[in-house]
Amino acid sequence: MKSRLHHFINGINILPIFIALALTLASLSILACFIRNESIAEFPFSLNETLETLEIKIDENPNDKDCDLFTGKWVFDNVTHPLYREDECRFLSSQVTCLQNGRRDSLYQNWRWQPRDCSLPKFRPKLLVEKLRNKRMMFVGDSLNRNQWESMICLVQSVVPPARKSLNKTGSLSIFKIEDYNATVEFYWAPFLVESNSDDPDSHSILDRIIMPKSIQKHGNNWKNVDYLIFNTYIWWMNTPTTKILRGSFAQNSTEYDQVERPSAYRSMLDTWSQWVDQNVDPNRTRVFFMSMGTDWGNTEGVKCAKETAPLVDIPAVLDMGTHQSLFAAVADVTGAMRVPVSVLNITRLSKYRKDAHTSVHTTQHGEILTAEQKANPAKFADCIHWCLPGLPDMWNELLYARIISNS
Ligand SMILES: *[C@@H]1O[C@H](CO)[C@@H](O)[C@H](O)[C@H]1NC(C)=O
Ligand SMILES: *[C@@H]1O[C@H](CO)[C@@H](O)[C@H](O)[C@H]1NC(C)=O
Ligand SMILES: *[C@@H]1O[C@H](CO)[C@@H](O)[C@H](O)[C@H]1NC(C)=O
Ligand SMILES: *[C@@H]1O[C@H](CO)[C@@H](O)[C@H](O)[C@H]1NC(C)=O
Ligand SMILES: *[C@@H]1O[C@H](CO)[C@@H](O)[C@H](O)[C@H]1NC(C)=O
Ligand SMILES: *[C@@H]1O[C@H](CO)[C@@H](O)[C@H](O)[C@H]1NC(C)=O
Ligand SMILES: *[C@@H]1O[C@H](CO)[C@@H](O)[C@H](O)[C@H]1NC(C)=O
Repeated sequence: MKSRLHHFINGINILPIFIALALTLASLSILACFIRNESIAEFPFSLNETLETLEIKIDENPNDKDCDLFTGKWVFDNVTHPLYREDECRFLSSQVTCLQNGRRDSLYQNWRWQPRDCSLPKFRPKLLVEKLRNKRMMFVGDSLNRNQWESMICLVQSVVPPARKSLNKTGSLSIFKIEDYNATVEFYWAPFLVESNSDDPDSHSILDRIIMPKSIQKHGNNWKNVDYLIFNTYIWWMNTPTTKILRGSFAQNSTEYDQVERPSAYRSMLDTWSQWVDQNVDPNRTRVFFMSMGTDWGNTEGVKCAKETAPLVDIPAVLDMGTHQSLFAAVADVTGAMRVPVSVLNITRLSKYRKDAHTSVHTTQHGEILTAEQKANPAKFADCIHWCLPGLPDMWNELLYARIISNS
């Protein structure tokens, strides 16, 4: 039996049995308390927690450890999704608050990824925050990883009282802090992971992007002693077919560069990154994840992604991923040979279906919400790279969550 024991054993829903059992146990215990004349306040656990614990046990069925979470389909599910409301999460940047920015349809929030051979565990913010107690979680990479970081904040912040959480952005590092748990969810801006002339977190609209693929220490110093590290880097490599590599260093004000084929530059960066991880990460403390690359949507009869309101349903056997197969191959190759285990979350294909979920014209440019005039010109202004929140990046985090709670 490959399918997961997610409330079901061979088609029989066992949740009611667990609930009945828990209710019986709880009432017996309460009765015992009264009999022994103890106060209910001393009752060591609440009924709700009992139920949660039972359900978590079901969710974490070890038989499913090797289920391929990334093969499956999108199902419409407006009962369980979205996991939070846009106007309930004040930490969202205006880049991603699509409804507030004028988007009229909202069904893009109601889709759930269903793996073919198992079910994902229910996302429990309390459980995740508990796992983060006295720990740091850090997303490192480009604006798509920032997109995912914002989603993660919204997913957990609902269980934290208003005055006990804060967001502090200082240079390349943004820190969301949960006081009572001494926990942080952080984002570090490093769009190429290695050093580049686009490392300024605020002003990086640079035409001539130049990198130093062997130089990572400056950034890496900020990634030490983190418990959950989630990396990505892709979209910035796509600007030009060749990559400019600096001769010398930015510190010496060097300006001369060589042009290198993109796959070879990407591979060089990955080698540098993997060496840094292997030398600086204690696998007994830290779990390392790598998010695969996203792809943009640009090939419909509509105007870019501007008219898309539903996911791609007819799934082509071979989905065109462009010419970037060699970059995928490099990620698989490099992560497979590391001392520190790296969990690659291959979200490329499942994201590709979601042409409806991009921010499109309901976003910002240089910090300003697009004007009516700009919105009327999607050919020029639609953003088909980033994603509305709530939305697709929440699902990436549900997958990350599944990996985090199942291996601990
Ligand atoms: C149990 O959960 C329900 C619904 O989430 C809530 O209304 C109730 O107050 C909780 N009870 C306890 C004892 O925590
Ligand atoms: C969920 O979707 C169904 C089918 O489209 C619809 O009938 C129902 O009203 C929706 N429920 C909510 C809460 O939006
Ligand atoms: C708070 O969290 C930090 C970072 O994870 C950790 O180093 C520190 O020991 C924690 N403090 C306490 C009092 O546990
Ligand atoms: C944000 O963090 C920086 C650096 O740690 C600190 O100097 C600053 O006071 C913090 N700001 C707030 C508002 O907490
Ligand atoms: C690089 O340029 C900066 C700003 O112009 C200057 O302050 C610095 O001294 C220069 N560094 C070197 C090594 O020339
Ligand atoms: C991790 O823990 C194991 C078992 O406690 C130990 O044998 C190993 O040396 C540790 N590895 C590192 C890198 O500290
Ligand atoms: C991710 O999945 C895509 C599409 O299924 C595949 O082409 C690619 O090789 C995979 N990448 C990695 C790193 O496994």
